[in-house]
Amino acid sequence: MIQSKFPELLHGGDYNPEQWMKQKDTIWRQDMEYARKAGINTLSIGIFSWSFLEPEDGVYDFAWMDEVMDNLAANEIKAVLATPSGARPPWLAEKYPSVLRMTNERMRRVYGGRHNSCLSSPDYRRKVTEINTRLAQRYANHPALAIWHISNEYNNDCHCPLCQARFQEWLRARYGTIDQLNDCWWNSFWSHRYTSFEQVESPTSPSWLGENESPAAQLAWKRFCTDNLVDFFNMEIAPLRQATPDIPVTANMMGTFTGLDYYKLGRAMDISSWDNYPQWTGDERDVAVSEQSAFKHDLMRGVSDQKPFLLMESSPSAVNWFSCNRIRTPGTLMYQSMQAIAHGSDSVQYFQFRAGRGGSEQYHGAVINHTGSANTRVFREVTDVGAALKQIAPVAGSVTRNQVALLYDWNDRWALDIAWFLHRGNQKYEETVLDHHAALSMQGIGIDMIDQDSEIDAYRVVVAPMAYLIRDGFSEKIEKFVQNGGRLVLTYASGYVNEESLTFQEPNPCLLHSIAGIRVDEIDALDDRRTNHFIWNGKRYEVKEVAELSTLDGAKQLAGYEEQFYAEKPMLTVHPYGDGCCYYIAARTDADFLCDLYDKVLAEAGISLLATEMTDGVKVTARYDGDNQYVFLMNSSHAKGTATVTKPMRDLQTGELIDGMCTVQPMSIRVLVSAN
Ligand code: GLA
Ligand code: ZN
Repeated sequence: MIQSKFPELLHGGDYNPEQWMKQKDTIWRQDMEYARKAGINTLSIGIFSWSFLEPEDGVYDFAWMDEVMDNLAANEIKAVLATPSGARPPWLAEKYPSVLRMTNERMRRVYGGRHNSCLSSPDYRRKVTEINTRLAQRYANHPALAIWHISNEYNNDCHCPLCQARFQEWLRARYGTIDQLNDCWWNSFWSHRYTSFEQVESPTSPSWLGENESPAAQLAWKRFCTDNLVDFFNMEIAPLRQATPDIPVTANMMGTFTGLDYYKLGRAMDISSWDNYPQWTGDERDVAVSEQSAFKHDLMRGVSDQKPFLLMESSPSAVNWFSCNRIRTPGTLMYQSMQAIAHGSDSVQYFQFRAGRGGSEQYHGAVINHTGSANTRVFREVTDVGAALKQIAPVAGSVTRNQVALLYDWNDRWALDIAWFLHRGNQKYEETVLDHHAALSMQGIGIDMIDQDSEIDAYRVVVAPMAYLIRDGFSEKIEKFVQNGGRLVLTYASGYVNEESLTFQEPNPCLLHSIAGIRVDEIDALDDRRTNHFIWNGKRYEVKEVAELSTLDGAKQLAGYEEQFYAEKPMLTVHPYGDGCCYYIAARTDADFLCDLYDKVLAEAGISLLATEMTDGVKVTARYDGDNQYVFLMNSSHAKGTATVTKPMRDLQTGELIDGMCTVQPMSIRVLVSAN
């Protein structure tokens, strides 16, 4: 892994000079002038340049890119240089049809669009390797080259015969024998016992064409698609590693996108990066929008084990693909940008630098709009962001040191999405983890997102909502954590199935049962006309959607249900275990309960709060380097907010000394610094 530390925060975005090839003498020159004016120090290039770099099979033209790279270097702008595999030229599909994906219904796609190549196609792999090798060799020593941007928003699957063959190979490696696969997939059900790996086809879901119900088959396919993609990613970076061993690689991800286990991809790269497109409203709903971004920023930092990440794309104004595309109200861009830094990003990058005149993104927000003028509100706000990033430059490279971890594991997500029970197809895994994230962050702390493979020893509190699928090794790890004094919070729907999505032969939460000190007898799905209630610490709360009925087995009941045949049964329990303890929440509740619970749990765990007495919509995070602590006070409400900091600090931008209560303007962020 290459440890990347930039001396400054990166500011820039996707730059597509090839769209202006015929006006390059004027437009390219103006681009550089505007970039300097806006405080832009980084531009991502080459993402969709394949047909200019290789206009015909084997015929390469790098002259134009040489010029772009030279322009960047001359203007002290770093290049985030992309491999072009996100979209391919027409000749490539015409000449090598195996690069075209097949749909779940086994239909070969035709040319068009992007992000739609078969990752198993030897032709595609060869062509990508060839062009990546040439790019790497040509620009290895170019002064502008700073980061490799691999492909673009890798996504989705292909069901062609080549992918089927690789899937079968993958299954053979995982299960060894077909008998073992049959047992793990419970294939005695519906007479599905295979006699050879060659008989296994990828699931066709959502189509009923073939296999679309087996949880194990679907889970295996999801896992295969991630592994096949990581393999493709490693193939893409091999020539880059060889020619440029010191240049970090990243691939831009998409938050909670369900198609790939981003922890596996994140751990394969040097820096993780992602594209954040919140649907800001410009009114009080922005508090919830902000929380969603906060959660995803934390997740995208988590997938690379908490190292600083890059905000690779964000819109400087409206996006164009929501059904209602609002422009950013004044100040929102600054908020959106500083929020990324607050959560651990070392960059603020936009999509896009200059809007094209045509194509489906002609109306997407851009630093320079179609008028080509810098005299716009958006350009001025981008320039303000550039100036702010310079003021807070010491933050670059600093890291988080959170004491609380929240589990978001793609295996849990997939297994729940696939599972035929409760609210089939709508288990709300992401929403639930988000609710816990929101409630935790309202306490005045930063949060680390983890998966079941993450190291957890250093945390004081681990929260694992709906940890439905327990991967090999996780229960031992969590048991040790609690034994050693950690506090664990578990919820309903945890520990139901093993790594292969087979249920256990003991009461839920199975492998976690001894830690939780309860036995789950039944789990109920409540429709929106059915609720229940419970009283805890004198306050009455509502239960909705999912509720478990369980029996105490060592745990202490803190609250029981009130109504129906549930009455008196445990809703909230705590179980001392070793030097730590485990809280168990048996049903889904609203945010007010989670906030009250975490207030107590964090206090018991002795978690140091970064700020207290925060008004509605105010959140706080911190980053650290050797000498300093940087505290970010974020107010996403459209009213003035306040928070109390726990020690004297200085505003990094204004120099103001803050001791105690601090005011934060509506929809804005303050960066405070103190000695560590
Ligand atoms: C994604 C892509 C970009 C662009 C933007 C538009 O993030 O990576 O190429 O399409 O969306 O929002
Ligand atoms: Zn394929």
